[in-house]
Order: sequence, then C-alpha cells, then structure tokens
Amino acid sequence: MKLEAGQVAVVTGAANGIGAAVATALVERGLRVVLADIDTDALTVTATGLGDHATAVPTDVADIDQVRALADRTLAEFGRVDLVVNNAGMGGGGPSWDITPADWNRVWAVNVGGVVNGIHVFTPHLIAAGHGHIVNTASLAGLTVGLFGAPYAASKAAIISLSESLHGELGLVAPNIGVTVVCPGPVDTQMFRGLAELAGPPEGAAPESALPPEVMDKLGPMMEAITEMSKEMLPAAQAAQIILDAVEAGKLYETTHPGMAQAARERANTILESFGTPA
Ligand SMILES: NC(=O)c1ccc[n+]([C@@H]2O[C@H](COP(=O)([O-])OP(=O)(O)OC[C@H]3O[C@@H](n4cnc5c(N)ncnc54)[C@H](O)[C@@H]3O)[C@@H](O)[C@H]2O)c1
Repeated sequence: MKLEAGQVAVVTGAANGIGAAVATALVERGLRVVLADIDTDALTVTATGLGDHATAVPTDVADIDQVRALADRTLAEFGRVDLVVNNAGMGGGGPSWDITPADWNRVWAVNVGGVVNGIHVFTPHLIAAGHGHIVNTASLAGLTVGLFGAPYAASKAAIISLSESLHGELGLVAPNIGVTVVCPGPVDTQMFRGLAELAGPPEGAAPESALPPEVMDKLGPMMEAITEMSKEMLPAAQAAQIILDAVEAGKLYETTHPGMAQAARERANTILESFGTPA
C-alpha cells in the first residue's frame, strides 16, 4: 500500500523503541497516527513530541475491550483506518521448566493475544473500506531455536504463522489488504538493550547488572551470541524505514537483518532433512 498524507495509522507499542520510530516516520510522511501503549507516561511524551498529527490512546493490547476502545476512538476521531501496526511486545525467558504458567500466559497474552486482538478488531474495518495494510511484529527468534527464551520465541513463531494464515485468507477475500510480518534482528531499543545487558553490563555500568557467574558459565555460548548480535544493532529509525518500505512494496516477510537469516535457513534444513525424502 502506498503511504500517503491523510491516511490514518494505528501503532501499538508506540511509546518506545521500534513502535515510536514507526509512528515518527509515519507522521513525517503526513499520516495521522494513533499511538497505543500500556506505558502511559512514555506514550504521552512520545505523542506530544510528534505534534498534532499524533493521538495517544493508553491501551493494553492483551485486553480485547481496550483494543475495541482503541478502534472506536480512532474511527470516532478520524472516520477511517488504513494501516494497523501490531508491534507491542514483551520479552520472557529462563529455563523452560522454571517459567511459571502465569509468566507464559502473560507473554502469550501480550505477544500473540495483542496481535490476535488487533487483527480481530481492525480487519473488518479494512475489509469494509476495501483497502489497507496490517503489520505484525514477530522476530528472527520465531524462526530460530530460542534457548532460555521459549515463551518469547514460541510467541514470535505463532505471529509468523498467524500472519501467513491472515495473508492467505485476505488474498482470497480482500486482495487489496496487505499483510507484512516483520522479523527484526537486533534493534537498539530498551528491549534488546535489556537482553544485551544480561550478557555483560555496558561500559561504565555497575557489574551487578550481569547474571551471576555460575549462571553465566552455563549460558556462555548463548551470551556470546547475544554480545555478537549487539554489534549489529540497528537504530530503531532504520528498522522503521525498512518496515514502511515493506508495506509499500507489499512484502509479506521482512527482516531488518537478512545476514542473520542463515540460522533460520539451517533450522529449516535440519527439520526437512530429518523428515527424509519421500519414497
Ligand atoms: N529490539 C529488538 O531487537 C527486537 C528484535 C526482534 C523483535 N522485536 C519486537 O519488536 C517489537 C517492539 O519492541 P522494541 O524492541 O521496540 O521494544 P520496546 O520495549 O522498546 O517497546 C515495546 C513497547 O511495547 C509496549 N508494550 C508492552 N506490553 C504492552 C501491552 N500489553 N500493551 C500495549 N503496549 C505494550 C511497551 O510499553 C513498549 O513501549 C516487539 O514486538 C519486539 O518483540 C524487537
């Protein structure tokens, strides 16, 4: 979908990081943007900084009633919605057996439930309008093996899968509505910095921010991989540009880090080779 002045976008998780950068890039292109986030203080700061093309609507994307209220407010104020960016997300990790069902459920409710709620509430409006685009933010973690981050990796794998279903279904029913599932690699936001700090405190930071040495010993190879990844961190504004280019190009799959997709290729090959060749 071509992004044009006058269109209306809803961006979740828009108070910080990638969502804030996407909202900023959209306002720069002349769109009116409804920013939704659970972090109300940061939301107010971000939206205020974007001026009168930005509207802040505090929202917990895990709560269907709040997502319905977000859509009602958007349509009451602007009468249309053209682009929905289901970007809000949270991390979740630890050894799979230690993660409590409550922690699993919260990651699932936000990362998957938030996207499901966005699709459920907004897609009928896009279908009625006959055009539009939905972006769902997954992660390269959804295509690779996520050690000590099972809820996060599994939730991102689910987002890729449900985006593929949505894309296929809309292709049959409403082909003018595009779907993009973004699989970012490391992007310089508070979420990735939190992960990178586990691997080693940033220069000048207190050493207590690292994990205890006995845990670090066990997680060594993974922490080294995170330290390596953090060297390739992209600024959030650059990630936002890649996402909006994918919307305009009508791409279903996008990543910020094509060079890191090798791990996804290897995993897919491992699965298919294990299945063997048909007789
Ligand atoms: N930064 C990375 O390296 C990276 C890599 C892959 C995928 N991602 C994904 O990109 C998306 C954005 O992450 P980010 O890196 O900008 O992180 P971030 O922490 O800077 O931003 C995430 C935003 O989502 C909001 N949020 C969390 N729970 C919410 C809820 N229940 N309702 C509404 N808002 C909620 C937070 O308040 C925050 O503003 C996430 O889905 C994340 O999983 C990030």
